Amino acid sequence: MQYEISIEGPIFALQRLRHELRCFSPRFEKMPQWSKNEEEWGRISFIETDHGLLDDTLRGLYRTITSVEKALSLSTKFDIRVRNLAYSEPSTGSSRFAEPFNPVPSITVQPWGTSVPQTADDRTIILDPHNAFGSGKHPSTRLCLKIMDLIAKDTSNTQRLRGGKVLDFGCGTGLLAIAAIKMGAKSALGVEIDGPSAEAAEGNVKLNHLSRTIKIKEGSWDAVQEKYDLIMANLVASVLIRTGKYLPGHLKDQGLAVVSGFGENQLNEMKQLFTGIGMIISQQFTLESWAALVLAKDERLSPSRCSTTTQA
Ligand SMILES: C[S@@+](CC[C@H](N)C(=O)[O-])C[C@H]1O[C@@H](n2cnc3c(N)ncnc32)[C@H](O)[C@@H]1O
Repeated sequence: MQYEISIEGPIFALQRLRHELRCFSPRFEKMPQWSKNEEEWGRISFIETDHGLLDDTLRGLYRTITSVEKALSLSTKFDIRVRNLAYSEPSTGSSRFAEPFNPVPSITVQPWGTSVPQTADDRTIILDPHNAFGSGKHPSTRLCLKIMDLIAKDTSNTQRLRGGKVLDFGCGTGLLAIAAIKMGAKSALGVEIDGPSAEAAEGNVKLNHLSRTIKIKEGSWDAVQEKYDLIMANLVASVLIRTGKYLPGHLKDQGLAVVSGFGENQLNEMKQLFTGIGMIISQQFTLESWAALVLAKDERLSPSRCSTTTQA
């Protein structure tokens, strides 16, 4: 089993800590600065492969960290994170995740902190998942990205992404909200019930310099005040069953909603749920046993109503 231990903090303090921890040969990375006035920030990390040694390693690490914090009279404490790489979302934090990849051809996800240059350009998303869901590798996320890509490329007047207002409900890392902007949306709101995940999303928005176009709110449907052109909701089936009824109220009349996060075997149940609350199934997609539905409020938007299942 592999545990990734990472410590974030101001660069000058990390350099001292790195020296103290030299027996672990830690990897050192500089964090991209979000503004010129900001303190230079970075991260050191190393892998502990021996489960039996983890407690001792962490005890020693906390002692060293406390002594460095005291010696330097640090006003900001180091931020320590331990991740069991076996239980992370597929590839989050593992070496495989540390390579840029294309969940859809039009988008490159550049994991934060690799030695590769960090460029937040029109098609590249810099992502630090922390412990939030949404690395871009999970089939349910890839389905959402694939559908967004198709909507953005749709040249008919029913496309709702380019120039539109997008809601990423259950945003996790904020990946879908960021991707929406990269694909041409005017603005996006990410809503996330889990505090640390909402913080991770906020950090990713900053890493991509998108604070002016993307807002992140911690909460659930109560945090959503407006109506949206496109709603992305990649949530597990139980959450869709519990809260799906609020979706139509936040979708513009001509808007589209994409629900994902459930298995192919739950497709019928999900279709019944959403048709039962006045939605029309415009399209359905499947990928590696996961499924997603494109929903509309207005029948005129859905000529191919439920006619096909597309393998994404
Ligand atoms: C499957 S993850 C999707 C993350 C990301 N949007 C993606 O597509 O990869 C679902 C996220 O929804 C969040 N969530 C669950 N219930 C929620 C609720 N009622 N309101 C807001 N967020 C919720 C979870 O904490 C989790 O981060």
